[in-house]
Amino acid sequence: VTERLKTPRGTRDLSGEEVAVIAGIEDAARALAIHYGFEEIRTPIFESQSLFERSVGDETDIVAKELYRFVDRKGRPLALRPEGTAGVVRAYIEHAMAARGGATKLYYAGPMFRYERPQGGRYRQFLQIGFEFFGATGVTADFEIIDLAWRLLERLSVKAGLRVNHLGCAACREAFSRALVDHFAARREALCGDCVRRLEKKPLRLLDCKVPACRAIAGDAPSIGLCATCRAENDVLHDLLRGSGIAFTADATLVRGLDYYTGIVFEMTSAKLGAQDAVLGGGRYDNLVADLGGAAVPAVGFAVGVDRLASIILAEPAASPPRAPLLYVIGLKPEGLAEAARLTRILRRWHEKRTLAASARPDWIEMGHGERSLKARLKEADRLGAAYVAIIGEDEVANGTTMIREMGHGGQAVVALRELKEGAIGEAILATMERLTEERLR
Ligand code: HAM
Repeated sequence: VTERLKTPRGTRDLSGEEVAVIAGIEDAARALAIHYGFEEIRTPIFESQSLFERSVGDETDIVAKELYRFVDRKGRPLALRPEGTAGVVRAYIEHAMAARGGATKLYYAGPMFRYERPQGGRYRQFLQIGFEFFGATGVTADFEIIDLAWRLLERLSVKAGLRVNHLGCAACREAFSRALVDHFAARREALCGDCVRRLEKKPLRLLDCKVPACRAIAGDAPSIGLCATCRAENDVLHDLLRGSGIAFTADATLVRGLDYYTGIVFEMTSAKLGAQDAVLGGGRYDNLVADLGGAAVPAVGFAVGVDRLASIILAEPAASPPRAPLLYVIGLKPEGLAEAARLTRILRRWHEKRTLAASARPDWIEMGHGERSLKARLKEADRLGAAYVAIIGEDEVANGTTMIREMGHGGQAVVALRELKEGAIGEAILATMERLTEERLR
């Protein structure tokens, strides 16, 4: 027996309505990227392992437990990217984008990979759309990024709760780390092995361990005390958000699962999702470019989980009406089929030009291939949900015409094609379709 081939655990095929919704999300993100001045970048889906170790951090779950590592045939240690920021920063440095001066705004869309336990809304391959703003000086840049994230969800009519936090500057974090070490070291026996190591290496990571015992200890850990500068920055952000009608909660427990964050961080969650309720997340990472060998360039960004966003939209009734042809062309007998193929080609080209000019959404024009009866064809048009059919049978071939019929209503009219120039055929058929519908409505 041959084994049935299936998608690997944690991955899936995207098709049908889901893929249409995802394309809609990508369209919305692209449009916003233009408004906010972001240029697209496409980086490889695999990079050196060390890139992720040095950016996301080797003490994080994402790198320590979830990284898809492999060596290629020459023994190079590589990894599938678990997120997009690291690769974009690598590219920013590699192509000396800082030398262009000023701000550089980059966005990306593509698959990310994390070896997590699959569950609702959590996959091993998932899609992110991310925005990274380099040369992002000052808190207004953080505001711009949060506003962009908010606007994206607003455009897609998705409601989500926004939480923001400030992780402090190096000085605030230094003091905070010491306070955390004191708090956790006093309860060392109860900590998991990873957290005992984090005590020495990355005290901030103590706050997002998933082991229940550690979480309990994190629960009454001290929260960060911000210095005057960070506090002032935080206040400006809160004011800007309030003034823009962007509802948020300040959440001191929000630390994010990646090491590179340095100041303001944020997340948006949706009650429509299950346990994995984060739709998007991001924040400031002022040291990452320098840490990876570039200049000292402040940056802020976020990434949205497209699979989760799509599942929220799909849960809404009639999120995206199923795609159906505007016109289904039916040819009967070989002669009719040949005429139908000619007509379909002419109509598609005409319609393509027309929708391009009006930058409207293209309509779908379909034809039935192979010799079938009129009855079978009408059934097929009905199954597809076609609005109109154009029939070319024996009479129509003889007379150089086609019969336009409005599906589901039965109104029909003959259009003479032979007298028309190719360029006029589309308009004539469209006018007939419109007239049939108008007459019916009258
Ligand atoms: P992140 O919070 O790790 O941040 O991921 C961003 C979003 O990706 C999450 O909010 C979630 O919607 C989605 N996501 C993460 N893991 C999975 C998964 N296993 N299955 C489905 N969706 C998932 C980052 O990745 C940062 N690079 C964001 C950023 C950009 N910060 C600054 N710039």
